[in-house]
Amino acid sequence: MKKFCVIGNPIDHSLSPILHNFWLKRNKIDAIYEKKLIEEKEIPKLIESLRKTEINGANVTVPFKNTVIPFLDELSAEAKKTNSVNTICVEKNKIIGHNTDIAGFELALRYINYDVKRKKAFIIGAGGVSPSIIFALKNMGCENIYLTNRTLEKAEKIKKTFKDISIQKWGDIPEFDIVINATSVGLNNEKFDLELSKVGNNKFFYDVIYNPSETNFLKEAKLNGNKTENGRMMFIYQAHQSFALWNKALPKIDEETIEILK
Ligand code: ATR
Repeated sequence: MKKFCVIGNPIDHSLSPILHNFWLKRNKIDAIYEKKLIEEKEIPKLIESLRKTEINGANVTVPFKNTVIPFLDELSAEAKKTNSVNTICVEKNKIIGHNTDIAGFELALRYINYDVKRKKAFIIGAGGVSPSIIFALKNMGCENIYLTNRTLEKAEKIKKTFKDISIQKWGDIPEFDIVINATSVGLNNEKFDLELSKVGNNKFFYDVIYNPSETNFLKEAKLNGNKTENGRMMFIYQAHQSFALWNKALPKIDEETIEILK
């Protein structure tokens, strides 16, 4: 029986096991997927288990997407550019880091037919997922990307990799078509201290958070007449891409798949 897992800290909230085990069963693959709460110092032990094929693949979540990198043998081009790994594979005895958050975000926008070409995108947050969102937006032809973060230095660090983005001071709202919450604000019912209610009513508000399914960021945007979307499809698509890398199979994403996460 094959074994997969997701590592993180905290990890209790992760819905990855529900989704992967559902797909494994549906595709009659003899494997299980578990969540593992680990400390940073346990990363080498996990890599050893992958090398010995005691574990056949792993997902990586907060706060290890970046700290896991020095322990890997190779990185995909996307993982290297974003300095972020959310999927580990074992290929020909090599431990390889991939980033499927990028495709996750791209496919989530395609799913709702949102085209970012010639649009202005405003990203709030310079944490772990932000470089993946910038990478995806650029891939899809978005030319104007604005980034803000409460701690300015972290946004400036991302600009070193993506030189053509514009940094906004926290509190300054640029003109935009799509705004993306890439922070953890909203996970526990918090609100931003940003003046987003004055931007008009024909914008698109996207939240990477999917649990709760409607953060205050999305609730207020909807009340003001804007289009909104949570991060559920991004989550499903990043898992879908990881599943494909490990099992060389693409499970169906249907109503039942979406329902099990609600
Ligand atoms: P990490 O910071 O370890 O990368 P993350 O969950 O990937 O963790 O990112 C958290 C993001 O949420 C950061 O952009 C963080 O801003 P700071 O860099 O200033 O910490 C943002 N964040 C968390 N709480 C916030 C709050 N109350 N107001 C604004 N931004 C907040």
